Amino acid sequence: MSLDSPEFSRGALLYQGKAKQVYATHDPARIIIHYTDGATAFNGLKKAEIADKGVINCRISAFFMEKVAAAGVPVAFERNLNDRDQLCLAVDIIPVEVVVRNVVAGGLARKLGLPEGQKLPAPLVEHFYKSDTLNDPQINESTAVLLGWAKAWELRAMHEYSLRVNSVLQAFWNELGIDLVDFKLEFGRVSIGSATAVVLADEITPDGSRLWERSTGRHLDKDVFRRDLGDLSETYRELYKRVFGKTV
Ligand SMILES: Nc1ncnc2c1ncn2[C@@H]1O[C@H](COP(=O)(O)OP(=O)(O)OP(=O)(O)O)[C@@H](O)[C@H]1O
Ligand SMILES: [Mg+2]
Repeated sequence: MSLDSPEFSRGALLYQGKAKQVYATHDPARIIIHYTDGATAFNGLKKAEIADKGVINCRISAFFMEKVAAAGVPVAFERNLNDRDQLCLAVDIIPVEVVVRNVVAGGLARKLGLPEGQKLPAPLVEHFYKSDTLNDPQINESTAVLLGWAKAWELRAMHEYSLRVNSVLQAFWNELGIDLVDFKLEFGRVSIGSATAVVLADEITPDGSRLWERSTGRHLDKDVFRRDLGDLSETYRELYKRVFGKTV
């Protein structure tokens, strides 16, 4: 879609993120997530503008949110309004990020001295406290419950949904000859009458995933930027072509 939806448009800027902006809409229950071309790494220390990254990520995230929703995972995503604006339910973000790993890479390799590329015997679910000032430290579920960041039942739902997302994404990338090494998810709370539900929020994009081409080991994700492995814009365009079968 390239035309702006007449009924929803960006209102006040609520949050200026590193890769996205969050805007209010006339409906207090809904926000617009605007995808920019900004890329950061190492908690904002490294920054760049990557041509068309916002458009690519906006479309890729919508594509995967629809897929996981069809598999029974409740999502905040509703629909794309144009190339960069996504209409979502406004959620209360749970400050606990979930990382699912199928293969050892990045922080796990560093922390435990394991070789990058070692396959894990089953998906590993990790938790991180969402805090830029603390650099998103790893925590466990007891810490999150004890400090009131999430309820035990919310963490159970997040765990189950994360594994379901993993199955859906892994099956998809596998067909394309790409290994889903790991990815990060954020969840939020929405009120339904007097009840609260946990839903998948934020994004599913190559910014928050590691995707390795099986035949060559080529990285098709933001590590290309973090580790100076090549041109990120070209990499994301290539990934887009593989997902949608056409150029962006
Ligand atoms: N449905 C939603 N409702 C409310 N907030 C959301 C929703 N989806 C995502 N967010 C929040 O919007 C922000 C998106 O911006 P971005 O991802 O660029 O932030 P960031 O710079 O990475 O910082 P953060 O560490 O907060 O993610 C994030 O803070 C995310 O938690
Ligand atoms: Mg973010």
